[in-house]
Amino acid sequence: MNDKLKEDFPIEWEDDHFVTRREFFKFLTLASGGVAVSTAALAAYAQIPREEIKFEAAKICSTEDLKPGSALAFSYPRPGDLCILVRKKDGEFVAFKRRCTHLSCPVEYEVKNERELLYCPCHNGAFSLEDGSVVQGPPPHPLPQVKIEVRGSEIWATGAIKGDH
Ligand code: FES
Repeated sequence: MNDKLKEDFPIEWEDDHFVTRREFFKFLTLASGGVAVSTAALAAYAQIPREEIKFEAAKICSTEDLKPGSALAFSYPRPGDLCILVRKKDGEFVAFKRRCTHLSCPVEYEVKNERELLYCPCHNGAFSLEDGSVVQGPPPHPLPQVKIEVRGSEIWATGAIKGDH
């Protein structure tokens, strides 16, 4: 370093090293702040009420295809979008997305201790057939509900999936 430069910038190597460390900690502080803000934003997003999403209506099956106390897998709204239609023991039809909200295993209709539910065998998760809410296990969110309609002797997905992100 020439003398003129040393005069203009009188920083010894140790001080120079100290400045670098200070800047590093400044960077760490800013990065931590960024992570904290991102986490808060994600938490706020999770609290937003999940809305109904509209799709084109599609026929699922005929009412005779399902006896009370049984279920049928179907795809909606696109091929590969797994859903499950359940005819409850009382005859009512309900439908939900079939991918568990924990790690996406397919849920199955089951009756346990006289209670009807959608069961996920991967980690013992379970969802209510009333509204898809979590009744057991690690799933963090309810199962999105597929709105259906009985049109004469046919069951139709009416185009709305409630609770999907
Ligand atoms: S994937 Fe369903 S409970 Fe874990």
